[in-house]
Amino acid sequence: MSDDPLANWNGVVMPLSEARVSVLDRGFLFGDGVYEVLRIYSGQPFLEAEHLDRFRRSLDKISIDCDVQRLIGRMRETLSHSGVQEGLIYIQVTRGTAPRTHRFPTGGTAPNELIYIEGFTEEPYGMFRDSGGTAITVPDMRWKRCDIKSVNLLANCMAAQQAAEAGCVEALLIDENGIVNEGSHTSVFGVRDGAILTSPLSPAILPGITRGLVTKLADSCGIPLREQSFTVSEIVELDELFLTGTTAEVLPLVRVDGTSVNDGLPGPVTRQLQQAYQDFVAESLSQTR
Ligand code: PDD
Repeated sequence: MSDDPLANWNGVVMPLSEARVSVLDRGFLFGDGVYEVLRIYSGQPFLEAEHLDRFRRSLDKISIDCDVQRLIGRMRETLSHSGVQEGLIYIQVTRGTAPRTHRFPTGGTAPNELIYIEGFTEEPYGMFRDSGGTAITVPDMRWKRCDIKSVNLLANCMAAQQAAEAGCVEALLIDENGIVNEGSHTSVFGVRDGAILTSPLSPAILPGITRGLVTKLADSCGIPLREQSFTVSEIVELDELFLTGTTAEVLPLVRVDGTSVNDGLPGPVTRQLQQAYQDFVAESLSQTR
């Protein structure tokens, strides 16, 4: 992360380190807010319309009234001032600052709106993109509306911390029936007998933007894809396993809970999708020029 990212805090551009929020902010007290993370490639926001549609949906699901069009203007302006070429855009809107009551505050509370632009000093996931990463499995302890991109991420943070302590890149979240829902901050895909498998969209998972793109890329590569879950005990039967996400892009997983996936090397379908992803990024950039 660059030393002090540029932020837009409630419409004012400032260094992120100077942005301040009241302790009565409902995001701070209750986790009452939603967020988005977009990737910046060559100074351009990637899949902007898709991320902002999901953001509108998240806001709508928790009844926060916010002018996303205005945020888009701020986002583009802050990005252009930042000069960041490779990095992330973080957007968060909370229900605002109000006396603490569990019910939503009545009348006139303005949402608190944060955008900041984080430049990469190095490629996230570095060598794992090539060699593949490892994961652990943990029980999915999250709430029942994981399709809303809420800032309530305690269960995700605990899972990610467990993975880090085990020297792994990700924790796969397993439901009470053994189904692999998703990662702590990624979507999960398996490959079996030449077909790609991934959990169908439901309140149990985030509708990943990269997941959506990879679904389309698989189609254009002629690789069959079934929205069908697999269980933790079926991982041994998979030929390949990979993660997708805004920062993870397409990331091979080669070991889970210490056991190799197939031969323990990234597989050909994952490699093909990694290439298709890179080609798609290059193609989208050529269209913005
Ligand atoms: N995380 N599942 C979860 C629980 C996530 O938090 C994310 C993204 C994904 C992948 O979604 P997308 O392809 O839209 O990035 C799946 C972001 C990057 C984060 O919290 O930083």
